[in-house]
Amino acid sequence: MHDSFDFNDRSVLVTGGARGIGLELSRQLAAKGAHVIAVGRDAASLDALAMQLHGSVTIQQVDLATSGSAEALSQWVAETRPQCSALINNAAIMHHTDLTVDSQARLDAMSAETAVNLTAPLQLSAAMLPVLSAHPSSAIVNVTSGLAIAPKREAAVYCASKAALRSFTRSLRDQCRAAKLPIQVTEAVMTLVDTTLSRAGPLRKYPPALAAADLIAGIERGLDEIWIEKTKILRIVHRLSPELAYCIMRDR
Ligand SMILES: NC(=O)c1ccc[n+]([C@@H]2O[C@H](COP(=O)([O-])OP(=O)(O)OC[C@H]3O[C@@H](n4cnc5c(N)ncnc54)[C@H](OP(=O)(O)O)[C@@H]3O)[C@@H](O)[C@H]2O)c1
Repeated sequence: MHDSFDFNDRSVLVTGGARGIGLELSRQLAAKGAHVIAVGRDAASLDALAMQLHGSVTIQQVDLATSGSAEALSQWVAETRPQCSALINNAAIMHHTDLTVDSQARLDAMSAETAVNLTAPLQLSAAMLPVLSAHPSSAIVNVTSGLAIAPKREAAVYCASKAALRSFTRSLRDQCRAAKLPIQVTEAVMTLVDTTLSRAGPLRKYPPALAAADLIAGIERGLDEIWIEKTKILRIVHRLSPELAYCIMRDR
């Protein structure tokens, strides 16, 4: 737990900041007086965000699945936006695949999913350390999932990438503390939210605006881990009985 974190007058890089939970993060951070650097692939969503938030956002069209993109993005931040003092690694993709069927055809999709969900946040976190360390206080927030705690059968690569990002976030936090860097490193364990990433289905989904508000409130409170909505229950269940947690999440 750190001191409280104020977004007013901060410059915040949000990957996937123009759609889904990221869009709500961008809107709410701008409302708190932050300048948002929103990253994504889709030009139409980025342009719509720029129209909506006027001078409170800078948009960057980047495909984080492309090799070298995280390094190029962090270099651009260092050169043109050194005032950036928070990074929210929010962008992700999820493929539902049965690896027992035509596994060879899945290899490209696996690479892309791993690149966006894991390689990009790892590399952005590391490459942005010099810029973030130059401020009296800064933050790195990695968005994981309840599926990092207990995976579901049909999204093996996604779940593995989120579990790895959870592990990385803990080590990075420990490294920053040992080096006495002024960087709060936070994991946001996201619940099932009503966006394009989550499949249509019978389960009730948390509204993206509430998910974003909970995430921002957790950063403001300086939490190491932000357990969003039902993930709080999952955390307890997993502590009491990992097998029960796996059973609950397997067919989500
Ligand atoms: N929704 C849920 O139920 C749920 C549950 C647990 C965790 N989460 C996590 O919450 C975070 C946000 O997810 P969401 O639900 O808001 O998903 P979403 O609505 O599908 O949005 C995903 C975002 O990631 C961006 N993105 C995807 N691929 C990209 C790429 N190659 N390069 C750059 N940006 C890329 C997308 O922008 P473009 O398409 O424009 O590139 C979009 O802004 C993710 O980390 C996800 O794993 C979500």
